[in-house]
Amino acid sequence: MSNLITIERHILEQQKYFPDASGELTDLLNDVAFAAKLVRREVVRAGLVDILGFTGNVNVQGEEVKKLDLFANEKIISAIGQHGRFAVMGSEENEGIIIPPKNETGSYALLFDPLDGSSNIDVNVSVGTIFSIYKLKGNDPCKASISDCLQKGSEQVAAGYVIYGSSVVMVYTTGQGVHGFTYDPTIGEFLLSHENITTPKSGKYYSINEGSYAQFNEATKKYLDYIKEEDPATGRPYSTRYIGSLVADFHRNLLTGGVFVYPPTTKHLNGKLRLMYEANPLAFICEQAGGRATNGRTRILDIQPAELHQRTPLYIGSTEDVIVAEEFEQGLR
Ligand code: AHG
Ligand code: MN
Ligand code: MN
Repeated sequence: MSNLITIERHILEQQKYFPDASGELTDLLNDVAFAAKLVRREVVRAGLVDILGFTGNVNVQGEEVKKLDLFANEKIISAIGQHGRFAVMGSEENEGIIIPPKNETGSYALLFDPLDGSSNIDVNVSVGTIFSIYKLKGNDPCKASISDCLQKGSEQVAAGYVIYGSSVVMVYTTGQGVHGFTYDPTIGEFLLSHENITTPKSGKYYSINEGSYAQFNEATKKYLDYIKEEDPATGRPYSTRYIGSLVADFHRNLLTGGVFVYPPTTKHLNGKLRLMYEANPLAFICEQAGGRATNGRTRILDIQPAELHQRTPLYIGSTEDVIVAEEFEQGLR
């Protein structure tokens, strides 16, 4: 096992692609990996400590907050904020921006979904953490503001996710390919397990909440009817795979091929998923792995954000499969 490459070493080696790198990006990716270890520690023993269930509060999304949502949020803010490398943060669980202590030394903005797949926490189904990193637009960290958090996804300098599943895997990109690391609890390290992940051009899975069929527009219904027709020449019918944790559905499709769709619904006219800390980071990763991510018409990474928690429809995964879904959405099929 000579190729025991820790995520810290891999991130350091990535630094050679950034000639003007000050090592800051390396440090803050390590901060994120460290925070992931803290969250993992609680997630894997959630049934043993009093962090299952609901807090009785409702968050800015209007959703009931689970104890593990809050725990993960607080851990990430404290574990990462303490080093002063981020001047500003935006979290799914916080209505406004977060200015961490010692932010005066930070050069970056962090957007994150501390616990993705909350509905699955208490039933031992994979959940995750998703993060997105931008350089500050200005030079004065003390002037960091919401505008540093509302940059197009194409401006990201790094993005990644952690999936707390049968094993704990951290996947990240800095624009130099996509790399996955599996946590080894015997040594407390994330070790390189998936170098240069590339996603198949097409797959055999489609991921969508069929239970929302009545809420879909006619275009989406036509797409669903199409993907389930018998046609061996086009690999149809595809198989349904929908876990209810975006990060788990995305990770499976990234590795095996397939398409994830959260379209506009009558309940969520702009889709349910959030642009800044779900769609953008996963779109960056997906494109780096050779896939495609749009809102059905526009590339996710080209969308100019207007609000921290704005939602977007999301069509993401294998390029050929995403294009088919888009063609239905656009009324071309
Ligand atoms: P979060 O737990 O961070 O709020 O995210 C939940 C999201 C996403 O993980 C998942 O794909 C989607 O909600 C499922 O939504 P539906 O239950 O409406 O299908
Ligand atoms: Mn989420
Ligand atoms: Mn969440």
